[in-house]
Amino acid sequence: MRILVTGAAGFIGSHLVDRLMSEGHYVIAMDNLITGKYDNLEPHRSETRFEFIHHNVSNYIHVPGHLDWVVHLASPASPVDYLELPIQTLKVNSLGTHNTLGLAANKGAKYLLASTSEVYGDPEVHPQPETYWGNVNPIGPRGVYDESKRFAEALTTAYNHMHKLDTRIIRIFNCYGPRLRLNDGRVVSNFIYQALKGEALTVYGDGSQTRSFQYVADLVDGIVRTMGCDHHLPINLGNPQEKTVLEIAKLIKELTRSRSEIVFKPLPIDDPRRRLPDITKARELLGWEPKTQLVDGLKETIAWFEAQFPKAAAR
Ligand SMILES: NC(=O)c1ccc[n+]([C@@H]2O[C@H](COP(=O)([O-])OP(=O)(O)OC[C@H]3O[C@@H](n4cnc5c(N)ncnc54)[C@H](O)[C@@H]3O)[C@@H](O)[C@H]2O)c1
Repeated sequence: MRILVTGAAGFIGSHLVDRLMSEGHYVIAMDNLITGKYDNLEPHRSETRFEFIHHNVSNYIHVPGHLDWVVHLASPASPVDYLELPIQTLKVNSLGTHNTLGLAANKGAKYLLASTSEVYGDPEVHPQPETYWGNVNPIGPRGVYDESKRFAEALTTAYNHMHKLDTRIIRIFNCYGPRLRLNDGRVVSNFIYQALKGEALTVYGDGSQTRSFQYVADLVDGIVRTMGCDHHLPINLGNPQEKTVLEIAKLIKELTRSRSEIVFKPLPIDDPRRRLPDITKARELLGWEPKTQLVDGLKETIAWFEAQFPKAAAR
């Protein structure tokens, strides 16, 4: 198939490109590199089934030739990024989603939107099933991400209804793995970076807030299975193993054999207290559930971070 992946140079996008390339597809990777790195796509640079287009998808998109799929992953995703880039985040999830949907409609392609567990906001229902409408503060600092993803879901659903576009919506819960940016402000990358540098591990609040972390290879498998399943309503993709942030900090400290201390800082505004996916639908429709144990995924991620340190120091 000929597949356009937006946000392809990012963390999840580049792993998805690896998988699609390994399955023999033709991949057009589109990215404006606002939070991604071209290095992530380097292994495919000289392949004839691969093209890179440097483009901001919030502007009109032109792609020559036919397309079988448009997979829309472009968007800042780490809280540090979207708090620094609020307007770009709102635009890529609204205008960018509109442009990519229009492109898919024009090409007769299928469409997949990467949405997020953040559409549930600070949830009042645990675990979160897809039928839960969420608890989001539209004008809080996180609103730029949460509300624009909610808008993106509404727009994708409208294209499905009005234009009969063959769409998929996945709600991704916290994901980690190699190629997270070293200090991009996400929980796992922060802790590993701090532990390896011998800096104090920063826990926000008392660390009792929970997250459910899925390894990137599991998520990519879920994305590919969703593409192969004819279902248009949102599907949660996440790991139902819930851990407190303090447990994660301690585990990373242990796995890195770090002597760093753990320090506590005030909880950011609207930080969700609990995050736990109900993945019944993914299990039933896709036959999918995460396979990677947290310890194994963290070991892979730590090894990758360790390999990056000499490169980062040499720059
Ligand atoms: N990583 C997670 O835990 C997680 C959780 C929920 C949802 N998601 C969603 O998955 C997608 C990928 O997230 P990620 O973790 O890989 O983030 P990332 O920041 O590593 O990747 C996003 C990519 O999109 C690109 N991009 C951003 N705006 C763009 C624009 N206007 N035009 C073209 N490219 C643009 C960036 O340069 C980057 O390469 C995002 O849509 C995100 O909302 C991720």
